Amino acid sequence: MIRLLMILGTILVLGAGAGYVLTRPRPLPPPAVEGLVGDAAAGERIFWAGGCASCHAAPKAEGDARLVLSGGQRLVSPFGTFVVPNISPDALDGIGGWSLLDFATALKRGVAPSGENLYPAFPYTTYTRMEMQDIADLKAFMDTLPPSGRVDEPHDLPFPFNLRVALGPWKALNLDPDWVIANPPSEAATKGRYLVEALGHCAECHTPRNAIGGLDLGRWMGGAPNPAGKGRIPNITPAALDWSEEDIAYYLKTGFKPDFDSAGGEMADVVANMAHLSDDDLAAIAAYVKALPPVANGGS
Ligand code: HEC
Ligand code: HEC
Repeated sequence: MIRLLMILGTILVLGAGAGYVLTRPRPLPPPAVEGLVGDAAAGERIFWAGGCASCHAAPKAEGDARLVLSGGQRLVSPFGTFVVPNISPDALDGIGGWSLLDFATALKRGVAPSGENLYPAFPYTTYTRMEMQDIADLKAFMDTLPPSGRVDEPHDLPFPFNLRVALGPWKALNLDPDWVIANPPSEAATKGRYLVEALGHCAECHTPRNAIGGLDLGRWMGGAPNPAGKGRIPNITPAALDWSEEDIAYYLKTGFKPDFDSAGGEMADVVANMAHLSDDDLAAIAAYVKALPPVANGGS
């Protein structure tokens, strides 16, 4: 923790100086969304693949209640506790007043309409790889969901993590739109790469982090401590997971493991999203997972 604070302190000083000019929030330019028209039906697939409801639905919401994106869940992390905001289409308390450009800027650049940095507890390090058309479709779908009047609460973050400006240098180091797996071996695995690296944010849980909370790409999907402090999230590379592609797809759809044990913890929520995807999409994710470079167990 001390080491972490020292690193963050250094970054803050950097950020306060000339570094700020290099790392200030950069909204997308307006031409980025020109001519885009969203298709709500197509956006539903993006919504479930992206797992927005896992964090933005009310605490413990189930079934159709997961479509009310009122926020309110508390996400505990080593940097403090985040209170997930309301992103329902309510014009006052949600994001109903946001333009497509505002929405795309949040997902791809991690910048709010106020011009401030957003925290990466919102996994925009994944969503930065999304196609613009998919973002337009997603917004069209989310605009059809029920509004919620829940008022956002402040996060509970100690200094220096409460300073959004300090995220500039963090983003310069960790926000990278390049693919992690450069050359997937098949068409299915390439489609799966988009579903995982741009939407499913599987790595946010299954990949260990470096000292400043960025993903350790050298140990991609190699298993990690649970950020909530309980237990470990499993290694899903072929070094540790010997399931067939069918086993993986079946698990994502139903939550059942090959030994008939069922998915627990945060993974149960992931399954609640994945169950909305087509068998083709789930097979593609499984093909990608099977093609991951093996990472031995251990490390942080
Ligand atoms: C792992 C949890 C998590 C997931 C998954 C997630 N979000 Fe968020 N989201 C957050 C948190 C936490 C914040 C608050 C960030 C901040 O205050 O800087 C946030 C903020 C946002 C904001 C900014 C809201 C505001 O009022 O400033 C938008 C827009 C958003 N998320 C959209 C989405 C969409 C769309 C998806 C799915 C594609 C999604 N989020 C998935 C946790 C998540
Ligand atoms: C919010 C955190 C989180 C996200 C996101 C997440 N997982 Fe998981 N995953 C877990 C946890 C926790 C477990 C262990 C579940 C258990 O103990 O039953 C798990 C288990 C698994 C397993 C079973 C491994 C085993 O050895 O039992 C597979 C396969 C898997 N996840 C794949 C994925 C894929 C693919 C994605 C992205 C589409 C994903 N996960 C996204 C947290 C997550």
